Amino acid sequence: MINSSRNGSISGLGRALPARRVSNDDLSHWVDTSDEWIRSHTGIESRYLAGEGETCSSLAIVASRKAIEQAKVDPSDIGMVICATSTPNYKAFPSTAALIQDGLGLEQAGAYDLSAACSGFTYALEMGRAMIVAGTTDHVLVVGAEILSSIVNWQDRNTCVLFGDGAGAAVLSVSEKREGVQFSYLRAVGSGEKALMIERGGSATALTAEWLEASDDLSSMFISMDGRKVYEFAVRVLVETINHLLEQAGISKDELDHIVPHQANIRIIQAAAKRSGIPLKKFFINLQEYGNTSAATVPIALKDMDDRKLLKKGQKIITIGFGAGLTYGGNYIIW
Ligand code: UT7
Repeated sequence: MINSSRNGSISGLGRALPARRVSNDDLSHWVDTSDEWIRSHTGIESRYLAGEGETCSSLAIVASRKAIEQAKVDPSDIGMVICATSTPNYKAFPSTAALIQDGLGLEQAGAYDLSAACSGFTYALEMGRAMIVAGTTDHVLVVGAEILSSIVNWQDRNTCVLFGDGAGAAVLSVSEKREGVQFSYLRAVGSGEKALMIERGGSATALTAEWLEASDDLSSMFISMDGRKVYEFAVRVLVETINHLLEQAGISKDELDHIVPHQANIRIIQAAAKRSGIPLKKFFINLQEYGNTSAATVPIALKDMDDRKLLKKGQKIITIGFGAGLTYGGNYIIW
């Protein structure tokens, strides 16, 4: 029986980035690119890339610790850790969420990773909300964490300039007020599998010694992307998600305070703003600083907004993710 007076509200946020900041100019020493091309085609100016000892779980733990501190929640009251990631510490298991659980000493928590690529945090937020509404637990730690530098093809200028590493975390806590994550819209278009993928290394295309020996081209072990296809998909689903969530919320565009979109490319956000008829200033943008950190973009953005005191009680917010799968979706939040 679902207790409908229970809502899942964001009680704390945290962010963690690797120590090394890499500018577009720095990248131009590694691949044939330029600051001018990257800025004009994506809006990205820099990104953070992991160095020695910086892993998906280590960044996630730092971000989560900050989120738990801000939430003022006793760690032993957290009943679940959900880590949205495409770059877990280990390929199959143990999950990165279990490493986070251990690193933070969350003795009463279950833990699992969620795989929905760049939509991962929006999916995970809904999973956390559902657990709270169902009464499974009162507090869920929801993390988006990525070390994309480990799966990027550093010889492919079409993709390597786009991504960065980082982690963001949110504590979702039970609230009886009408606040927090109200509902979500989650979708997939699996027929778009080839538009953004790592072709080799899964169970269907295992990395065998024979294959490694026979192959001089290892690019299928890293990210490949049909940029144009993903771009068009992204603009379309951003608008679709906004419209769907506004309709379900029964509010107009004017009543919406913020849209927190996945941070992939400023041109995608500009095009979605234009097509949806919502002023660009309502879309939070920080991709210039971090690049695309996949499942981490939305929680890092929320944390940046919180630091800048942009988030105020009662505000109506839409978060949106889109990415490989293809997957997409968003959450409607009353702050
Ligand atoms: O989380 C979701 C993941 N991904 C996305 O959201 C990405 C969606 N797609 C995009 O953001 C854009 O399609 C890109 C940024 C990937 C590419 O922008 P574009 O305006 O669609 O460029 P393009 O692919 O049409 O390439 C234009 C030119 C090409 O040269 P030619 O063939 O016209 O001579 C590329 O080779 O730009 C060239 N190019 C570069 N030049 C310098 C591609 N990458 C680079 C680079 N530096 N890094």
